[in-house]
Amino acid sequence: MPWDKLANADIAFTFGDVILLPGKTEVEPAEVDLSTSIGEIRLHTPILSSPMDTVTEEEMAVAIARMGGLGVIHRNCTVGEQVRMVKAVKRAESFIIRDVVTVSPADSVEKAKSIMKDMKISGLPVVVDGKLKGIITRRDVYFAEDSGLKVEDVMTKDVITVNPDITPQDARKIMSKYKIEKLPVVDEEGHLVGLITAKDVFYRESHPFATRDSEGRLRVAAAISPFDIDRAKALEPYVDLLVTDVAHFHNENVISATRRISAEVDVPLIVGNIGTYEAAEEVLTRLDVVGLRVGIASGSICTTGEVTGVAAPTLYAVAKVSEAVAKYGSNVAVIADGGVRGPAEAAKSFAAGADAVMLGFALAGTKESPGSPLIVGGKMYKVYRGMGSPSARSRRFVLDRYSRPSKDIAEGIEGLVPYRGDATTVIDKFVAGLKAAFGYVGAANIHDMKAKARMALVSPIGTREIAPHDVKPMDRLPHI
Ligand code: XMP
Repeated sequence: MPWDKLANADIAFTFGDVILLPGKTEVEPAEVDLSTSIGEIRLHTPILSSPMDTVTEEEMAVAIARMGGLGVIHRNCTVGEQVRMVKAVKRAESFIIRDVVTVSPADSVEKAKSIMKDMKISGLPVVVDGKLKGIITRRDVYFAEDSGLKVEDVMTKDVITVNPDITPQDARKIMSKYKIEKLPVVDEEGHLVGLITAKDVFYRESHPFATRDSEGRLRVAAAISPFDIDRAKALEPYVDLLVTDVAHFHNENVISATRRISAEVDVPLIVGNIGTYEAAEEVLTRLDVVGLRVGIASGSICTTGEVTGVAAPTLYAVAKVSEAVAKYGSNVAVIADGGVRGPAEAAKSFAAGADAVMLGFALAGTKESPGSPLIVGGKMYKVYRGMGSPSARSRRFVLDRYSRPSKDIAEGIEGLVPYRGDATTVIDKFVAGLKAAFGYVGAANIHDMKAKARMALVSPIGTREIAPHDVKPMDRLPHI
């Protein structure tokens, strides 16, 4: 009955409608553990960067993985470009490099020099039939002035090597003892099977909580369309997770297409976006996934709600989806996506049942987001755009984010966000704010937050009181 629809209307709580109530605490913010899991992947920091072409390319993915989160490379590009970005993240760091670039003793020093320059590497193992014969480094080529010299004339022949079972700690000790920056890894017959570099060993030490795979490489996810199985297959050998990038996942065609991908591509899947209990129930009963992207129309650049009148605000959606996840006893991760501007919205998401948050706006405008800063009115900005904005859609790879009738309608905007400097600093502040919220609630970890947090409604008038009010804010006080 039409009237019943209104009389029994659900309440679509948004982040701004509620506050978290303080609880008795025994935890200091510094003691809070924010780690979470998505399938087999452990994240020290429960943050994913959005697959948007003004948020996540390789630079952002590297930065966020080093901070213990996970980057999702956008798909508004050719398959080749997306695969290249994923591979670049995988190459950024690894304990043992497997695809080592080598030269042979008979090669000219000039050739070795140009390989080092082109590939931006500082040393090359020298091999014959796969067996290690020496190593040539930038220092060796730097002092080789005679252009007729061969690699064997200048290479170091007595190379210190290690076997494939070496641990990072032992590799570091050997490098320090002999003051060397490259450590070739050889098997019992002397075949080169890998290379360890000082840079990678030190990165490992300076980022102990980075999100790494079993080979020490940074982990990375990539966005796909459920209708693009070729893209999913091309990414399969390199990527740690695939993330469907669809505005409304609760659609029979989309679910069927995802089932096919799931059957043919052996990479864990996050699917979404969804916004209701029923959508979660359907996914949990029909698909094998490790995570759900949850929230429809709360994104800072979204016009979906405005244009269509349809929305499942992220806080509401997270609470509904989390109920379905609990009912089906599944440990599928709930990822709050859209409208998480800062730690306050993230804390409320965890309180409502999320396991991680996905950030667009909060990471746009950083040094690592794609695009150069612009100066407008003396201030620095970066462009941030929705994947349904006219300019993002003009590249056409993202048109299938939206259902067929709405393919002709823009569902996002393009705008400027203030330039914010390093993503690392932004994430550090975000995490500090989040830990403070956990401290107020008395939650030592995400599990605790879900169990203990209590929420209360605030009126639109009251919202003003819990933000700075009446005083005109000043960045810096004048000297008195
Ligand atoms: P925030 O608020 O973090 O939101 O900037 C990022 C999320 O918004 C979604 N997204 C869109 N939603 N139209 C939409 O309705 C769009 O053009 C659009 N682009 C991105 C997406 O879920 C992203 O993670």
